[in-house]
Amino acid sequence: MALLEMERVEKIYGQGEVQVLALRGVDLEIEEGEFATVFGPSGSGKTTLLNLIGALDKPTGGTVKLNGCEIGQMSKNELAGLRRKDIGFIFQSYNLIPVLSAYENVEFALTIARKDRSREKKTQKVKDILRRVGLGDMMHRRPNQLSGGQKQRVAVARALVKEPRLILADEPTANLDSETSREVLEIMLRMNRELNTTFIFSTHDPMVMEYARRLLEIRDGMISRDERRS
Ligand SMILES: Nc1ncnc2c1ncn2[C@@H]1O[C@H](COP(=O)(O)OP(=O)(O)O)[C@@H](O)[C@H]1O
Ligand SMILES: [Mg+2]
Repeated sequence: MALLEMERVEKIYGQGEVQVLALRGVDLEIEEGEFATVFGPSGSGKTTLLNLIGALDKPTGGTVKLNGCEIGQMSKNELAGLRRKDIGFIFQSYNLIPVLSAYENVEFALTIARKDRSREKKTQKVKDILRRVGLGDMMHRRPNQLSGGQKQRVAVARALVKEPRLILADEPTANLDSETSREVLEIMLRMNRELNTTFIFSTHDPMVMEYARRLLEIRDGMISRDERRS
């Protein structure tokens, strides 16, 4: 069974005369362990697509299944549990909690995932993941003491720490210069290989396409190209 199955997915925003058809019939399957890039210009439907995959929103037509369960059929509680435990999110603007250190930001994500573990194991897990993303000696810094690239690494660690099956990243490199973008992409790719975590991330930056192992191009709410690369 594929990790994600979308069939004829449509998303319409608004009502009456101001409707926007943001997705028009998307069919997509993603297998466990993929590293997939959704590439398209602004307004093409990338955020809409990722929000539906992450069960942050429901489609107006068609079906989205995660792990075989249709999100349209799930209760609010079930959806909240799915987002907390099984999906990691990375955002363009990092969304770290400013008063918490890097360590505490990551620990907090693990706490709310409620996958627990003794206090000692938890501490080990948080430190291990921060070391893996190259922040071993910056764990106690707060976000305002970190560069953009370092903040995004904290966000990658925060998404990974709960060992989700799937990580969704909506334009994770949009606020980073190209060198820092590469560093963050390399880390995501390495985590994908080492931990077999499935990644789906979006971008409008052609440089980022080089990193795609599967390239999904989106135009006007439709997938116009789907290419696997070795
Ligand atoms: N909440 C919303 N209400 C109305 N229209 C929206 C909303 N969110 C997105 N749209 C529209 O849907 C289309 C796709 O948007 P989006 O998914 O944000 O694209 P992208 O992330 O590729 O820039 C755009 O035309 C956008 O204006
Ligand atoms: Mg967007």
